[in-house]
Amino acid sequence: MLASAAERLLTHYDRYARALPWRSPPGSAPPDPYIVWLSEVMLQQTTVATVKPRFRRFIARWPTVEALAAAPDEEVLSEWAGLGYYARARNLIACAREVAALGGFPRTEAALRELPGLGAYTAAAIAAIAFGERAVVVDTNVARIVARHNRIDRPIEKAGDEIRRFADAMTPTDRPGDYAQAMMDLGATVCRPKRPDCAACPLSADCMAFAGGDPEAFPVAKAR
Ligand code: ADE
Repeated sequence: MLASAAERLLTHYDRYARALPWRSPPGSAPPDPYIVWLSEVMLQQTTVATVKPRFRRFIARWPTVEALAAAPDEEVLSEWAGLGYYARARNLIACAREVAALGGFPRTEAALRELPGLGAYTAAAIAAIAFGERAVVVDTNVARIVARHNRIDRPIEKAGDEIRRFADAMTPTDRPGDYAQAMMDLGATVCRPKRPDCAACPLSADCMAFAGGDPEAFPVAKAR
């Protein structure tokens, strides 16, 4: 019998996970929530290649959320230069101070969501990756994979609920953090927007867009 999509993806991840400075190797102890939070905020509008050295520098300068919370605004803003939107750096400072005041990061998706400037995606990613909660992590990579796997015939912008339902059904109870990161890697390296590498994909056996021979046609473009 075919293993579940999540099981096949995790087996693939065990072998091909990218080594990234904010990541623990597959199956090992999870990274600190500060590490996950900072990396996810940096990765929201900046590429992995750009984020890598900047993340290392940032962590060397402020190794804990308490250290970041105590830093003067101007120093954080100047360290952020080149990573885009200052609003993100301002949110980062506000959030760090709130977390320090609380005595650490809240440990559930729902409680993380209450932090200033922390959105649904980031709360789910921290809950899954740092705390092992079965949170449903949906970003553009996950949306693209799900749209292809299920041949969703509406643009992502219109199919949010449907994508979320499929993503929820696919998310495992076991290793949800590795699973979330495996989906991010799959979207970046295999189920790419253009020229997906279906021959290397652990999900192709039941991918409906692959079966139809036109994976690149999904997600369907926004009507214009
Ligand atoms: N893109 C967004 N979050 C990521 C992560 N944790 N690893 C790799 N790519 C990502």
